[in-house]
Amino acid sequence: MKHLISMRDLNADKILQFLALAESLEKNPKQIDLSRRVMAAVFYEASTRTRMSFESAMKRLGGEVIAMVGTSGTSVEKGETLADTARVMARYSDIIVIRHPMEGAARYVSEQVDIPVVNAGDGANQHPTQSLLDLYSILKAQGSLEGLKLALVGDLKYGRTVHSLAYALAPFNPEFYFVSPKSLSMPPHILNDLTKMKVKFNEKTTLGNIVGDVDILYVTRIQRERFPDREEYEKVKNAYIITAELLHKAKPNMKVMHPLPRVNEISTDVDSTKYAYYFDQAENGVYMRQAILATLLGEAS
Ligand code: CP
Repeated sequence: MKHLISMRDLNADKILQFLALAESLEKNPKQIDLSRRVMAAVFYEASTRTRMSFESAMKRLGGEVIAMVGTSGTSVEKGETLADTARVMARYSDIIVIRHPMEGAARYVSEQVDIPVVNAGDGANQHPTQSLLDLYSILKAQGSLEGLKLALVGDLKYGRTVHSLAYALAPFNPEFYFVSPKSLSMPPHILNDLTKMKVKFNEKTTLGNIVGDVDILYVTRIQRERFPDREEYEKVKNAYIITAELLHKAKPNMKVMHPLPRVNEISTDVDSTKYAYYFDQAENGVYMRQAILATLLGEAS
């Protein structure tokens, strides 16, 4: 496997290999040595967790990082193309981790360079490294990925994390509730793919009794930056707000997950409950991204 671009490219065996390596690296990070290797973090869009956890992952394995943090102050401002920027980064580094607002940007970059490319989020399309860390988090919390019930809540139209996660869980016999305002429902092409894969799902506009029925409540931010019309965002921005009170009927081991950042969609009174899992989830990003870097750099046995 040379690149990590989309969860659609990974079968169950490959996913399980990433999970096993992340678990092993969490216990013993010293087993992999990435010294003499350089990771280029090329971020055309804002990020806190993805960029910093990749940097942390690389540095904790002994590697080095060069970073483009937004386009301000770079030659993108002078009109340099994505292809040229990528080709130059490939001369400076051993692996490119790229985030870009354009869907398909990471795959395009992978076709321009000879080194591994990791998609750290391409527009509203995919965020595969987030999904792998989500799977690792779910596995740690529930002990298995098989046959779980999950509610994916919020912006299912523009939220790339939920698009990737639906594909990531598909091999493990999940049952999904897709809860969103009608205008932000899961894209039809993803629903078609899930139907072909015989994945069970229900589309809902309200949470109703779902909280008491699921193993994972995966909450997402309404993606303000992707709305063409600001008024449309204002109509739906507070569509779902998870509070501690709402969780009273949850199963004892139910976990609330969120890729973060959150805005209003999870009240801070949830943070001190046993259901809050989003900060552990963020930490798991380091272990999974170590596994991804080691694998794509050919250092995982
Ligand atoms: N989850 C996630 O992608 O967070 P950032 O946008 O902060 O990287």
